[in-house]
Amino acid sequence: MKIMITKNVDKVAEDLRRGNVDVVPTETVYGLAANALDESAVAKIYEIKQRPRFNPIIVHVRSVEDFGKYAEDVPEKALKLASEFSPGPVTFVMKKKDVIPDIVTAGHDSVGLRIPDHPLLLKLIGTCGFPLAAPSANMFGRISPTSAVEAEKELGGKVSFILDGGKCGIGIESTVISFTEDEPVILRSGAVTKEMAEKVIGKVNEGKGGKILSPGMLESHYAPRKPLLIVKARPSDEVLEELNGEYMNLERFGPLASIAVNLFSEMRRCDESDSKLIICMTVKNEGIGVAINDRLLRASSGYLGTESGSPEITGTTEMKHA
Ligand code: TXA
Ligand code: MG
Repeated sequence: MKIMITKNVDKVAEDLRRGNVDVVPTETVYGLAANALDESAVAKIYEIKQRPRFNPIIVHVRSVEDFGKYAEDVPEKALKLASEFSPGPVTFVMKKKDVIPDIVTAGHDSVGLRIPDHPLLLKLIGTCGFPLAAPSANMFGRISPTSAVEAEKELGGKVSFILDGGKCGIGIESTVISFTEDEPVILRSGAVTKEMAEKVIGKVNEGKGGKILSPGMLESHYAPRKPLLIVKARPSDEVLEELNGEYMNLERFGPLASIAVNLFSEMRRCDESDSKLIICMTVKNEGIGVAINDRLLRASSGYLGTESGSPEITGTTEMKHA
């Protein structure tokens, strides 16, 4: 399939209307989109990504008014949080309405709704007239693309169009919050942190381990092909040379928000270099740093040179490379 990188919303809308799957930009990462109300279109997303059918897909809508169309009994807290952070990098998991096909939610009775903060994508959803189901536009378990060119590297030949919305402004996937329990639960960390959410809606819990509620909670995810090792201090050049390792220097991007913007591109670049492995340090575990460290840990295959074998941040200590 010949791929076309375009800024033409009408062309992409036309293709999506035919039940096809195309790549779209968002402010977080690029997505692989299809008509969320068309079961066979959504089935193509799973096929293209080689995504297991038990992983539910986020549905992208245009406004808070759409929540009521696709979710049952939209909780007050969800509306309150949305009024603060939507459009933006938050996905609201709520009880689904029947119009959302089971294939979108992997059979769960909840649906994840998100209003993306990207003008081209909002325009596309408006032009289509239907919501767009879209996971990140990478092959399952791999690094999410944050530009049209990266999306082409991931999915070239598998889709007809990539709607080019430039480099993603946030760079890591949305915060996923479930409103299906008595208290909201964060299923995946993102740019909207637990503290930010709590300021608006009070207590928010953190989803941990156990039953997989969200594939973002699968241990190995967002992963390069090479092993990625997390260290406590930057190894000397001699050590790097001996290991044929490349040090992924995230500090050089400056503030945490800039590290987030560049994280996946940098991981991808290191993955394409001649080295045998990637070595990096975690970042300050505050604000968006929590989500950055989460992605680093999930991408990693282990820790190097630490006594305890784990870094000094909370979270999973045993990482396996899939
Ligand atoms: O920023 C993002 O969220 C990007 C852009 C494209 O919007 N999308 C994204 O999709 O990261 P994906 O499929 O790669 O990750 C979606 C996460 C998964 O961890 C999935 O399990 C969770 O959201 N999710 C979606 N619907 C859910 C539901 N009904 N219940 C629980 N988790 C859900
Ligand atoms: Mg993903």
